[in-house]
Amino acid sequence: MSTNEPTDDAPPSPPAPSPASADEATPDARPQSTRDDTPPADASPSAEPSVEPKLNIDDLHFWYSDNHALQGITMDVQPNKVTALIGPSGCGKSTLLRCLNRMNELIQGTTLEGTILVDGQDIYAEDTDPVMVRRRVGMVFQKPNPFPKTIYKNVAWGAEINGYTGDVDALVERSLRQAALWDEVKDQLHTSALNLSGGQQQRLCIARTLAVQPDVVLMDEPASALDPIATSKVEETITELKKDYTIVIVTHNMQQASRISDETAFLYMGRLVEMNPTDELFTRPEKDRTEAYVTGRFG
Ligand SMILES: Nc1ncnc2c1ncn2[C@@H]1O[C@H](COP(=O)(O)OP(=O)(O)OP(=O)(O)O)[C@@H](O)[C@H]1O
Ligand SMILES: [Mg+2]
Repeated sequence: MSTNEPTDDAPPSPPAPSPASADEATPDARPQSTRDDTPPADASPSAEPSVEPKLNIDDLHFWYSDNHALQGITMDVQPNKVTALIGPSGCGKSTLLRCLNRMNELIQGTTLEGTILVDGQDIYAEDTDPVMVRRRVGMVFQKPNPFPKTIYKNVAWGAEINGYTGDVDALVERSLRQAALWDEVKDQLHTSALNLSGGQQQRLCIARTLAVQPDVVLMDEPASALDPIATSKVEETITELKKDYTIVIVTHNMQQASRISDETAFLYMGRLVEMNPTDELFTRPEKDRTEAYVTGRFG
């Protein structure tokens, strides 16, 4: 029988050095295409372009009072991929997600140790502004929660609170298009968001998150309150979004994880048991406990 979780209770590692400057990130460095087929003299034939992880989580511990909810999570999240977090109820999925944009610290009596880097920047460093972190790492919740305002105002809200000086109409349209809702609502932008269906409301909440122009979008069971048709619309939207964003999604639905995610992390009792490309994790899990979970033997 294999032991799946790390057993040593190593003390948290010292904080990683912060980068010299985190101001205006350079626009996405896309891999350069080689126009001529001749490789440079020193290129090894198997060398792949190395991609820096978008998120780097190192020995993360989190407590609600004395409840040690996350116990040494170490994982990287790759840019422009969908990473799914799965595991039984209470294993810490939502807690981990909320650590990624400092939302947990809004809860009293909590303690965090360890390091989380976004593009190499320590988001818990003393000089990091949590509001900036939440702007850069947006969150979509389980239940659609539009404001009781018009569709337009729901989407424009993020721009307004950020003092956006660009063309708000264009931002609203772009965000609604990215959330695959534009065609359905373009003629009713100034009517109440509460008249939309549940699935439309959830895509509106995705648009609202995108309008703040984050890099990373966190989603906590975004389709669990939706019917199958609305769910598949949200899933299609997520698949489209990864071209522009890095997505981390919590889901209880393993079919959903296998449909939409590139990598899957399986958590159990506050620990990361296994993280692997999704097809591998579901078809050839490394750990017995993962296999038991994905085959439905527990959970
Ligand atoms: N706001 C909170 N205050 C106190 N304890 C909390 C809070 N949120 C979660 N916990 C505790 O932290 C642990 C992890 O909970 P979490 O909500 O992260 O699990 P989860 O994997 O998201 O579960 P589910 O699948 O049911 O949503 C649980 O023991 C839970 O009781
Ligand atoms: Mg949860």
